[in-house]
Amino acid sequence: MSETNYHIPILVSEILDLICITEEGFYVDGTLGGGGHTFAILQKLSNAKVFGIDLDEEALKQNQERFPKDRFVACPGNFRDIENLVKTNGIDKVVGVLLDLGISSHQIDSANRGFSFQKDAQLDMRMSKQTNLTAKKIVNSYSREDLSRIFREFGEEKNAWRIAGEIVREREKKEVETTLELVKIISKVAGGKFLVKTLARIFQALRIEVNQELENLKEALQGSLNILVEGGRLGVISYHSLEDRIVKDFFKHENLSCVCPKVIPVCVCKKKRTLNILTKNPMVPSENEIKQNSRARSAKLRVIEKI
Ligand SMILES: C[S@@+](CC[C@H](N)C(=O)[O-])C[C@H]1O[C@@H](n2cnc3c(N)ncnc32)[C@H](O)[C@@H]1O
Repeated sequence: MSETNYHIPILVSEILDLICITEEGFYVDGTLGGGGHTFAILQKLSNAKVFGIDLDEEALKQNQERFPKDRFVACPGNFRDIENLVKTNGIDKVVGVLLDLGISSHQIDSANRGFSFQKDAQLDMRMSKQTNLTAKKIVNSYSREDLSRIFREFGEEKNAWRIAGEIVREREKKEVETTLELVKIISKVAGGKFLVKTLARIFQALRIEVNQELENLKEALQGSLNILVEGGRLGVISYHSLEDRIVKDFFKHENLSCVCPKVIPVCVCKKKRTLNILTKNPMVPSENEIKQNSRARSAKLRVIEKI
């Protein structure tokens, strides 16, 4: 196993301490990416195996030769199907699951993928080429109302309606094809010191819509819980408040043993508590980690134990 030339994975020592507590069995790395967390798990636990999932064909190719074949399985797929992917590969239960959400440094740095507003590229933003919806399709075909909704809901952008209007006006003259064409349109609404943050919010919103990221996450949380052994651990690293809220609310709900309205004196819902929350507040990277890797600055890790 070689470690050279790979990015240091985010919150790696926290992941190893909180998730990798069982010496043997399968761990699922639901977001294989550059393989940094998988590498750390395989190195810490010499008898454990990793089942690595990623949507991105390039990420899987990158890792195929990197890890010993008897300890690592690379699986193409969407983590929303985690339960199915694991079971159809002959694995019944796993001892740990990690989801390190969002896009990898490799994806951001790849000039041709269209994820970055600093690099000129076709407006694509797909994590997997198997899907048809691209950022270009969204920008050129969604109504002003729908564009505005995704900018507001997925980007928390205050100028959503005005930016959507500007896009609709410009695309009547000419189809919007590239990242930098979109940047130019957005900069008509949000100039000066606000521009970079606005661009980040709009690009985030488009990426979430293209890849259906929030829906995927909701399904992956339930699927992950279903495949864990009792005492098994699930950790999720999120990078923005929309993801973190979904994770927090899911864990909170599963931590309850009753969801009956307060006016009912005796429980009738028969709900069972399925997990213990191990991180009352999310864990965040140290200042030192953020200094070494600026992408870590918005990371939040929440971990649970299945009961
Ligand atoms: C932040 S990176 C993971 C980095 C990785 N932990 C490492 O140490 O290198 C996120 C990865 O998850 C993948 N991904 C995002 N959404 C996914 C999904 N729904 N199903 C499978 N993989 C997904 C992306 O393609 C990307 O490679």
